[in-house]
Amino acid sequence: MKHTITLIPGDGIGPEIVAATVRIIEASGVDIEWETHILGAQAQEKYGTTLPEETIASIKRNKVALKGPQMTPIGKGFTSVNVGLRKSLDLYANVRPVKALPNVKCRYPELDLVVMRENTEDLYAGLEHVVVPGVVESLKIITEKASTRIAKYGFEYARANGRKKVTAVHKANIMKLSDGLFLDCFYEVAKQFPEIEADDKIIDNCCMQLVMRPEQFDVLVLENLYGDIVSDLCAGLIGGLGLAPGANIGELGAVFEAVHGSAPDIAGQGIANPTAILMSGILMLRHLGETDAADRVERAMLDVFADGTTLTRDLGGNASTVDFANAIISKIGTGEKASA
Ligand code: NAI
Repeated sequence: MKHTITLIPGDGIGPEIVAATVRIIEASGVDIEWETHILGAQAQEKYGTTLPEETIASIKRNKVALKGPQMTPIGKGFTSVNVGLRKSLDLYANVRPVKALPNVKCRYPELDLVVMRENTEDLYAGLEHVVVPGVVESLKIITEKASTRIAKYGFEYARANGRKKVTAVHKANIMKLSDGLFLDCFYEVAKQFPEIEADDKIIDNCCMQLVMRPEQFDVLVLENLYGDIVSDLCAGLIGGLGLAPGANIGELGAVFEAVHGSAPDIAGQGIANPTAILMSGILMLRHLGETDAADRVERAMLDVFADGTTLTRDLGGNASTVDFANAIISKIGTGEKASA
């Protein structure tokens, strides 16, 4: 079956790692037509807006996008296009699997958990204003609707993927109303999934537990801000941001992207690690029902990690982005030949 997919190369290292991923996916023989679009600073220059209608319409039409990281200016300039995209497509569930890979030095080689982050509200609503000079108010929005649907997604994901436990992470001891609502919704939904253990942890304790005994966790369900922070923490447990994939899922479509950003410090040098976006691409293939292609790409990638001689610099190797992609392509064994 042929798939049409929106492709957003992104900023910084985005075009390098996205190009490597596209080559690897195509080498699996899966039939994909890519519709390339832009967002953010590039779109601002071309269309005068960071979220062009053409890009949004393409994702809505195709229902699936593979997206490179987008740069967001700090403290000034345009608001995050990632947040804007998630809001405009109502991509409410941000799914971030955390699983260690062979030959990667990390604290927890056996770790296998999933961070499920609510993607549309919380402090990320971006509702900030100056009350009087020197005093700024930022509004945290938590709704029953969004809290219920992320909890439901978390439990449904657990059921579909043979996971045994779902943990809500919160600070309801302090934010009794907002985080309290999030937690109430979680336990209300949990009643519909009696075979899955449900529990909760206060965010600060959860961070310590993740560092000391992460094996106690299976699926974590979090509000937007906590989910953002905890997913980077979890990436650190398995060897770093270069290895953490993600999927943003909603009723209108699904956008697959790495957890990491545009890495401006190494952009254009051909040394970025494409693993996180490749693993996001594997999640995308599974979402499309291309299980065989997903399995073959994943096996080839795991073989390259197990072999350990063609890893990128962030993992202690000296392979370039292209070398790494070529090594995977040569192990997939169909389609495109490896190239320099
Ligand atoms: P970052 O994730 O881009 O980089 C953090 C560190 O990790 C850097 O030292 C970088 O070189 C390294 N790193 C990240 N990805 C890597 C990879 N694939 N291979 C090897 N090393 C890698 O985070 P930072 O520097 O805080 O943000 C840079 C920009 O990215 C900002 O404008 C930020 O807003 C944006 N960003 C975008 C995201 C997205 O589009 N989903 C997510 C996070 C940040």
